[in-house]
Amino acid sequence: MITKKKIPKHIAITMDGNGRWAKKQGKARIFGHKNGIKAVRETIEYAVEIGIPYLTLYAFSAENWKRPEKEIEALMNLLVASINNETPKLMKNEIKLLTIGDTGKLPLATQSQLEKTITKTKENSKLTLILALSYSGKWDILNAVKKIIENKELNENITEKIFEQYLATKNVPDPELLIRTSGEHRVSNFLLWQIAYTELYFTNTLWPDFGKKDLEEAILEFQNRERRFGKTQEQIEC
Ligand code: IPE
Ligand code: IPE
Ligand code: MG
Repeated sequence: MITKKKIPKHIAITMDGNGRWAKKQGKARIFGHKNGIKAVRETIEYAVEIGIPYLTLYAFSAENWKRPEKEIEALMNLLVASINNETPKLMKNEIKLLTIGDTGKLPLATQSQLEKTITKTKENSKLTLILALSYSGKWDILNAVKKIIENKELNENITEKIFEQYLATKNVPDPELLIRTSGEHRVSNFLLWQIAYTELYFTNTLWPDFGKKDLEEAILEFQNRERRFGKTQEQIEC
């Protein structure tokens, strides 16, 4: 059983494996994306249930723009429809929606649905749900550097704390746990700066099959890990 005392403050998830899930059943990739929605819903429900304050879901990377146009279009439509459908539930569960990424690149209909729900949910405070869309960790860091130069804050006094205020995750604590599904063991340009000390968890489960039990298992493993942050085991224990 997971202990209430050590619930991660921020979990980030790379939701991978939709295409392979569909292929296994002889279906088109988009069938996998559609079935991934159920896993998203279950993950969010469980996060609310156990009181996780921040959940970041990697939904579309900057590199995913290289996919076939048809798949991108279907993904964007799916995103608009799901956010629209789920907005009442976000309100009911007091979930605040945010996005990180180069969202100006998204189709206008997607941008406007996102803005609508972000505005509607902005006073909610139980769970902050962050969707990473057109996101890349390198983009995030470079974008921060550009803004710092613009604000003339680039000098020898710059600190990590100041730098973090320019990242897309401004005011969001770094993830304590990063989960990636589908058996791939790579970061794929997700939160680079922010995962400096994050616990990594990989599962072979394909995203559409991911559910409460999988999330519970990941959290259980997290709770049994010793986070040392560079110190010795003896220092941690006392
Ligand atoms: C993750 O599943 C969803 C997105 C990247 C949008 P994939 O579409 O990457 O599925 P696989 O990895 O090809 O199985
Ligand atoms: C990472 O998955 C991005 C998302 C899950 C949104 P990909 O399927 O795009 O990653 P690679 O290309 O296999 O590394
Ligand atoms: Mg993939």
